[in-house]
Amino acid sequence: MKNILNAPFVKEMCDVTANMYRLGWDERNGGNISYLLNEEEVAQYLDLSKVIREIPTGFTAKSLVGKIFIVTGTGKYFKNVAADPETNLGIIRIKEDATTAELLWGYKDGGRFTSELPAHLMSHMARLSVDPQNRVVMHSHPTNLLAMNYVHELDEAKLTHTLWEMCTECIVVFPDGVGVLPWMLCGTNEIGEATAEKMKEFRLVVWGMHGIYGAGKTMDETFGLIETVEKAAQIYMLTCNRPRVNTIKDEEMVRLAEFFKVKYRKDFLNL
Ligand code: 13P
Ligand code: ZN
Repeated sequence: MKNILNAPFVKEMCDVTANMYRLGWDERNGGNISYLLNEEEVAQYLDLSKVIREIPTGFTAKSLVGKIFIVTGTGKYFKNVAADPETNLGIIRIKEDATTAELLWGYKDGGRFTSELPAHLMSHMARLSVDPQNRVVMHSHPTNLLAMNYVHELDEAKLTHTLWEMCTECIVVFPDGVGVLPWMLCGTNEIGEATAEKMKEFRLVVWGMHGIYGAGKTMDETFGLIETVEKAAQIYMLTCNRPRVNTIKDEEMVRLAEFFKVKYRKDFLNL
Protein backbone atom coordinates (compact mmCIF):
# COMPACT_ATOMS: atom_id res chain seq x y z
CA MET A 1 0.00 0.00 0.00
CA LYS A 2 1.36 3.41 -0.95
CA ASN A 3 1.60 6.27 1.56
CA ILE A 4 -1.57 8.34 1.25
CA LEU A 5 0.26 11.52 2.20
CA ASN A 6 1.98 11.23 -1.20
CA ALA A 7 -1.29 10.72 -3.11
CA PRO A 8 -1.77 13.35 -5.84
CA PHE A 9 -5.31 14.09 -4.65
CA VAL A 10 -4.10 14.83 -1.09
CA LYS A 11 -1.37 17.07 -2.50
CA GLU A 12 -3.92 18.89 -4.68
CA MET A 13 -6.11 19.55 -1.62
CA CYS A 14 -3.08 20.84 0.32
CA ASP A 15 -1.94 23.10 -2.52
CA VAL A 16 -5.33 24.58 -3.32
CA THR A 17 -6.29 25.30 0.30
CA ALA A 18 -2.90 26.98 0.85
CA ASN A 19 -3.42 29.11 -2.24
CA MET A 20 -6.94 30.10 -1.25
CA TYR A 21 -5.71 31.08 2.22
CA ARG A 22 -2.78 33.02 0.74
CA LEU A 23 -5.22 35.01 -1.40
CA GLY A 24 -7.27 35.96 1.65
CA TRP A 25 -10.37 34.15 0.47
CA ASP A 26 -10.63 31.79 3.43
CA GLU A 27 -10.28 33.40 6.81
CA ARG A 28 -10.43 31.15 9.88
CA ASN A 29 -12.43 28.04 8.88
CA GLY A 30 -14.09 29.82 5.94
CA GLY A 31 -14.49 27.74 2.80
CA ASN A 32 -14.73 24.03 2.06
CA ILE A 33 -13.87 21.68 -0.80
CA SER A 34 -15.10 18.27 -1.94
CA TYR A 35 -13.35 16.23 -4.63
CA LEU A 36 -14.81 13.08 -6.21
CA LEU A 37 -12.07 10.44 -6.36
CA ASN A 38 -11.48 7.45 -8.55
CA GLU A 39 -11.99 4.23 -6.54
CA GLU A 40 -9.08 2.37 -8.20
CA GLU A 41 -6.76 5.25 -7.42
CA VAL A 42 -7.82 5.43 -3.76
CA ALA A 43 -7.39 1.63 -3.46
CA GLN A 44 -3.66 2.08 -4.07
CA TYR A 45 -3.48 4.00 -0.76
CA LEU A 46 -6.28 2.67 1.45
CA ASP A 47 -7.88 -0.66 2.31
CA LEU A 48 -11.40 0.15 1.15
CA SER A 49 -12.92 -2.57 3.36
CA LYS A 50 -11.81 -0.70 6.51
CA VAL A 51 -14.33 1.87 7.72
CA ILE A 52 -13.03 3.97 10.64
CA ARG A 53 -16.49 5.23 11.64
CA GLU A 54 -19.84 6.08 10.15
CA ILE A 55 -21.23 9.63 10.11
CA PRO A 56 -24.86 10.37 9.20
CA THR A 57 -25.21 13.09 6.56
CA GLY A 58 -28.82 14.12 7.24
CA PHE A 59 -29.87 13.92 3.59
CA THR A 60 -30.19 11.38 0.80
CA ALA A 61 -27.63 11.16 -2.00
CA LYS A 62 -28.88 8.16 -4.01
CA SER A 63 -26.86 8.75 -7.15
CA LEU A 64 -23.66 9.01 -5.08
CA VAL A 65 -23.87 5.61 -3.36
CA GLY A 66 -20.40 4.00 -3.36
CA LYS A 67 -18.74 7.22 -4.49
CA ILE A 68 -15.62 8.36 -2.63
CA PHE A 69 -14.80 12.00 -1.85
CA ILE A 70 -12.00 13.82 -0.10
CA VAL A 71 -13.61 16.65 1.88
CA THR A 72 -12.32 19.44 4.13
CA GLY A 73 -13.28 19.13 7.80
CA THR A 74 -15.75 21.38 9.57
CA GLY A 75 -14.16 24.11 11.66
CA LYS A 76 -10.78 23.46 10.09
CA TYR A 77 -8.57 26.28 8.87
CA PHE A 78 -7.35 26.21 5.26
CA LYS A 79 -4.03 27.63 6.46
CA ASN A 80 -3.42 24.41 8.45
CA VAL A 81 -4.34 21.77 5.85
CA ALA A 82 -0.91 21.33 4.23
CA ALA A 83 0.87 20.83 7.58
CA ASP A 84 -1.64 18.23 8.82
CA PRO A 85 -3.84 16.77 6.08
CA GLU A 86 -4.96 13.79 8.18
CA THR A 87 -6.62 16.03 10.79
CA ASN A 88 -8.02 18.68 8.46
CA LEU A 89 -9.26 16.44 5.62
CA GLY A 90 -11.26 13.24 5.44
CA ILE A 91 -12.02 10.61 2.81
CA ILE A 92 -15.63 9.45 2.89
CA ARG A 93 -17.67 6.93 0.90
CA ILE A 94 -21.43 7.20 0.60
CA LYS A 95 -22.94 4.04 2.10
CA GLU A 96 -25.63 1.86 0.50
CA ASP A 97 -28.36 3.64 2.52
CA ALA A 98 -27.42 6.91 0.74
CA THR A 99 -27.60 8.86 4.03
CA THR A 100 -24.43 7.74 5.80
CA ALA A 101 -20.82 8.66 5.14
CA GLU A 102 -18.25 5.94 5.81
CA LEU A 103 -15.00 7.49 6.98
CA LEU A 104 -12.07 5.76 5.28
CA TRP A 105 -9.29 8.15 6.33
CA GLY A 106 -8.72 11.45 8.11
CA TYR A 107 -10.63 13.66 10.58
CA LYS A 108 -8.01 12.21 12.95
CA ASP A 109 -9.07 14.30 15.94
CA GLY A 110 -12.61 12.89 15.84
CA GLY A 111 -13.82 15.66 13.53
CA ARG A 112 -16.24 15.44 10.66
CA PHE A 113 -16.84 16.75 7.17
CA THR A 114 -17.77 20.37 6.45
CA SER A 115 -21.11 21.65 7.69
CA GLU A 116 -21.78 22.49 4.03
CA LEU A 117 -21.80 18.83 2.94
CA PRO A 118 -25.45 19.14 1.74
CA ALA A 119 -24.52 21.94 -0.69
CA HIS A 120 -21.44 20.01 -1.81
CA LEU A 121 -22.98 16.59 -2.43
CA MET A 122 -26.22 17.99 -3.84
CA SER A 123 -24.14 20.16 -6.18
CA HIS A 124 -22.09 17.13 -7.24
CA MET A 125 -25.32 15.29 -8.09
CA ALA A 126 -26.61 18.29 -10.07
CA ARG A 127 -23.36 18.88 -11.96
CA LEU A 128 -22.85 15.16 -12.72
CA SER A 129 -26.35 15.08 -14.24
CA VAL A 130 -25.30 17.72 -16.79
CA ASP A 131 -21.54 17.01 -16.93
CA PRO A 132 -20.44 13.43 -16.07
CA GLN A 133 -16.83 14.69 -15.89
CA ASN A 134 -17.44 17.03 -12.95
CA ARG A 135 -15.22 16.23 -9.95
CA VAL A 136 -14.76 19.31 -7.76
CA VAL A 137 -17.05 21.55 -5.73
CA MET A 138 -15.39 24.49 -3.98
CA HIS A 139 -16.78 27.11 -1.59
CA SER A 140 -14.95 30.26 -0.60
CA HIS A 141 -15.36 33.84 0.73
CA PRO A 142 -13.36 35.93 -1.77
CA THR A 143 -12.93 39.47 -0.43
CA ASN A 144 -13.82 41.65 -3.41
CA LEU A 145 -16.72 39.51 -4.51
CA LEU A 146 -18.12 39.71 -0.99
CA ALA A 147 -17.64 43.51 -0.96
CA MET A 148 -19.40 43.73 -4.32
CA ASN A 149 -22.40 41.87 -2.86
CA TYR A 150 -23.09 44.92 -0.67
CA VAL A 151 -23.04 47.53 -3.41
CA HIS A 152 -24.28 45.70 -6.52
CA GLU A 153 -27.73 44.29 -7.21
CA LEU A 154 -27.90 40.56 -6.50
CA ASP A 155 -29.50 39.76 -9.82
CA GLU A 156 -28.05 36.96 -11.96
CA ALA A 157 -28.17 38.77 -15.29
CA LYS A 158 -26.98 42.11 -13.90
CA LEU A 159 -24.19 40.66 -11.75
CA THR A 160 -22.93 38.44 -14.57
CA HIS A 161 -23.03 41.36 -17.00
CA THR A 162 -21.04 43.61 -14.68
CA LEU A 163 -18.44 40.89 -14.07
CA TRP A 164 -18.13 40.20 -17.82
CA GLU A 165 -17.48 43.92 -18.36
CA MET A 166 -14.57 44.00 -15.89
CA CYS A 167 -12.01 41.81 -17.70
CA THR A 168 -11.85 40.86 -21.37
CA GLU A 169 -11.52 37.15 -20.60
CA CYS A 170 -14.52 36.87 -18.25
CA ILE A 171 -17.13 35.94 -20.87
CA VAL A 172 -14.77 33.29 -22.21
CA VAL A 173 -13.97 31.79 -18.78
CA PHE A 174 -17.56 31.73 -17.47
CA PRO A 175 -19.84 32.09 -20.51
CA ASP A 176 -22.57 30.28 -18.56
CA GLY A 177 -22.60 33.22 -16.11
CA VAL A 178 -23.01 33.33 -12.36
CA GLY A 179 -26.09 32.07 -10.54
CA VAL A 180 -27.17 34.03 -7.47
CA LEU A 181 -28.96 33.02 -4.28
CA PRO A 182 -30.23 35.57 -1.78
CA TRP A 183 -28.85 35.48 1.76
CA MET A 184 -29.88 32.16 3.26
CA LEU A 185 -29.00 30.24 6.40
CA CYS A 186 -25.84 28.27 5.61
CA GLY A 187 -25.10 24.67 6.57
CA THR A 188 -28.68 23.58 5.89
CA ASN A 189 -30.26 21.13 3.44
CA GLU A 190 -32.37 24.08 2.13
CA ILE A 191 -29.36 26.07 0.96
CA GLY A 192 -27.93 22.83 -0.41
CA GLU A 193 -31.04 22.17 -2.48
CA ALA A 194 -31.17 25.78 -3.73
CA THR A 195 -27.48 25.65 -4.69
CA ALA A 196 -27.90 22.36 -6.52
CA GLU A 197 -30.86 23.73 -8.46
CA LYS A 198 -28.66 26.60 -9.68
CA MET A 199 -25.79 24.18 -10.40
CA LYS A 200 -27.86 22.52 -13.14
CA GLU A 201 -27.45 25.76 -15.05
CA PHE A 202 -24.29 27.42 -13.68
CA ARG A 203 -20.80 26.33 -12.58
CA LEU A 204 -20.65 29.36 -10.30
CA VAL A 205 -23.22 30.25 -7.65
CA VAL A 206 -22.99 33.32 -5.42
CA TRP A 207 -24.41 32.97 -1.94
CA GLY A 208 -25.64 36.50 -1.21
CA MET A 209 -23.45 38.26 1.37
CA HIS A 210 -21.64 35.01 2.13
CA GLY A 211 -19.42 33.78 -0.69
CA ILE A 212 -19.33 31.66 -3.79
CA TYR A 213 -19.55 28.04 -4.97
CA GLY A 214 -17.67 26.80 -7.99
CA ALA A 215 -17.77 23.42 -9.74
CA GLY A 216 -15.52 21.89 -12.34
CA LYS A 217 -13.79 18.88 -13.85
CA THR A 218 -10.46 19.60 -12.16
CA MET A 219 -9.13 21.53 -9.19
CA ASP A 220 -7.49 24.03 -11.56
CA GLU A 221 -10.64 24.63 -13.56
CA THR A 222 -12.71 25.21 -10.42
CA PHE A 223 -10.11 27.40 -8.74
CA GLY A 224 -9.69 29.34 -11.99
CA LEU A 225 -13.41 30.07 -12.21
CA ILE A 226 -13.52 31.58 -8.73
CA GLU A 227 -10.19 33.35 -9.26
CA THR A 228 -11.51 35.02 -12.44
CA VAL A 229 -14.74 36.15 -10.77
CA GLU A 230 -12.74 37.52 -7.85
CA LYS A 231 -10.41 39.43 -10.20
CA ALA A 232 -13.42 40.95 -11.99
CA ALA A 233 -14.99 41.87 -8.64
CA GLN A 234 -11.71 43.52 -7.62
CA ILE A 235 -11.68 45.66 -10.77
CA TYR A 236 -15.30 46.56 -10.06
CA MET A 237 -14.53 47.58 -6.48
CA LEU A 238 -11.51 49.62 -7.63
CA THR A 239 -13.57 51.52 -10.19
CA CYS A 240 -17.16 51.69 -8.95
CA ASN A 241 -16.68 55.00 -7.12
CA ARG A 242 -15.14 56.74 -10.13
CA PRO A 243 -16.70 58.02 -13.35
CA ARG A 244 -16.70 55.25 -15.98
CA VAL A 245 -14.88 56.54 -19.07
CA ASN A 246 -14.46 53.25 -20.94
CA THR A 247 -16.13 49.88 -20.92
CA ILE A 248 -16.16 46.59 -22.83
CA LYS A 249 -19.25 46.84 -24.99
CA ASP A 250 -21.79 44.06 -25.41
CA GLU A 251 -20.92 43.81 -29.12
CA GLU A 252 -17.30 43.22 -28.14
CA MET A 253 -18.31 40.48 -25.72
CA VAL A 254 -20.21 38.80 -28.55
CA ARG A 255 -17.07 38.95 -30.70
CA LEU A 256 -15.05 37.34 -27.90
CA ALA A 257 -17.59 34.57 -27.33
CA GLU A 258 -17.83 33.83 -31.04
CA PHE A 259 -14.07 33.90 -31.62
CA PHE A 260 -13.41 31.54 -28.68
CA LYS A 261 -16.44 29.44 -29.62
CA VAL A 262 -18.11 29.43 -26.20
CA LYS A 263 -21.81 28.98 -25.61
CA TYR A 264 -22.75 32.08 -23.65
CA ARG A 265 -25.86 33.46 -21.98
CA LYS A 266 -27.10 35.77 -24.73
CA ASP A 267 -29.98 36.77 -22.48
CA PHE A 268 -27.47 38.32 -20.04
CA LEU A 269 -26.37 40.85 -22.67
CA ASN A 270 -28.30 43.96 -23.69
CA LEU A 271 -28.15 43.57 -27.44
P1 13P B 1 -17.09 24.59 7.70
O1 13P B 1 -15.97 24.92 8.67
O2 13P B 1 -18.14 23.73 8.35
O3 13P B 1 -16.54 23.99 6.43
O4 13P B 1 -17.84 25.94 7.32
C1 13P B 1 -17.14 27.01 6.76
C2 13P B 1 -17.99 27.85 5.87
O5 13P B 1 -17.49 28.53 5.01
C3 13P B 1 -19.47 27.84 6.07
O6 13P B 1 -20.13 28.35 4.96
ZN1 ZN C 1 -18.92 29.85 3.88
